[in-house]
Amino acid sequence: MRKMIKRSALVATALITGVVNVASATELEVTHWWTSGGEANAVAELAKAFDATGNKWVDGAIAGSGGVARPIIISRIIGGEPMGATQLNHGRQAEELIEAGLLLDLTDVASENNWRNVIYPSNLLDACTVDGRVYCAPVNIHSAQWLWLSHEAYESSGVAVPSNWDEFVAAGPALRANGIVPLAQGQQGWQTGLTFGVLATALVSEDAWYAVNRDKDSTVAGGSEYARVWKAFDDARKMAIGSNVGDWNMATNLVITGKAGGQIHGDWAQGEFSVAGSVAGTDYSCLPGLGNREILDTGGDAFYFPVQDDADVEAAQKELAALLVSPAVQVAFNLKKGSLPIRGDIDMSTANDCMQKGLKILAGGNVLPSGDILLSPDTSNQINELMTTFWSDLYMSAEDAQAKYAKIIASAD
Ligand code: GAL
Repeated sequence: MRKMIKRSALVATALITGVVNVASATELEVTHWWTSGGEANAVAELAKAFDATGNKWVDGAIAGSGGVARPIIISRIIGGEPMGATQLNHGRQAEELIEAGLLLDLTDVASENNWRNVIYPSNLLDACTVDGRVYCAPVNIHSAQWLWLSHEAYESSGVAVPSNWDEFVAAGPALRANGIVPLAQGQQGWQTGLTFGVLATALVSEDAWYAVNRDKDSTVAGGSEYARVWKAFDDARKMAIGSNVGDWNMATNLVITGKAGGQIHGDWAQGEFSVAGSVAGTDYSCLPGLGNREILDTGGDAFYFPVQDDADVEAAQKELAALLVSPAVQVAFNLKKGSLPIRGDIDMSTANDCMQKGLKILAGGNVLPSGDILLSPDTSNQINELMTTFWSDLYMSAEDAQAKYAKIIASAD
């Protein structure tokens, strides 16, 4: 099917121009899960840039979250129906595909374009590298550690906009009394898992965080520092009662419209505020590290290119890989997405208040690796399942859930 599309495009080009320019006519189907308003705006920048090279971006958006899209993407690649390029979170999600030789080696593109020197922080490129070979083109740093706050919700409830997690919890009853849900939370496992992860980075010491997430130390996971996270997570689930939405962007919309006080969510929420015309610092605020500890994780999105037995496709894949890391595409894409660029040598001066906070934290090197990089997909799924159960079962105590968490960490890989 792909070959047929490509050939007919070539014939059409030949009829119009009289010349078949192979390099300028390659179509690549690109799969991704960027389907919210802000995300679609951002991905359109990538398509526009690729089309400007004379190639054609065939958009393969998969509705739903990464949790829905990833298995579809992976089974297509394994099942011999590869797309031209695909989004994944760089880190361990592509491990097995790389081992099976199913993803294109981009090492030559990386060295020609000096990726080792321009990509910052360098662990983003490391997360694309296996045995010294590069297999993905990082496109952004997405950070999860943000609390997005509606000014209208707090002002109409007669309380100040919180500046940290404790103030956020303390303001909850005033919002409730005003008919506003204190915390907007989408009801999907990865979102509850994200909320827990953000509370952990904001509320425990860096040593304790590394002990659990990197060293898989179950004693620390079950110990007193992490008990504080479980207490906060318990507060959070109670503050979210009445937030009956599924998708993350529906939860963001509750904050945008002042129906909820805040949402703990990744920087991609920023794109939704922009689409709605909300202004950072005026209509909403953002607290990195929940205002408690200004630290961000540096996971993100990257594009992988499944191996195909076709020299033209491979040339177009490499062209797209180089383009994604190029300065112009980095600026255009990340300004729309709300994420941080993967290089420090570009002009982000037009970024809004919230993005400037993120850029400052990044420049100061106050960063952590993401769960996608440290934990296997299997461990992440087990954690997300526990979070979902705890979130929906108000009879499960924080102590019981913490003990279960420590058990998962004990056997984590
Ligand atoms: C993440 C992705 C982000 C964001 C989010 C919600 O997995 O890395 O870029 O789009 O999903 O769709």
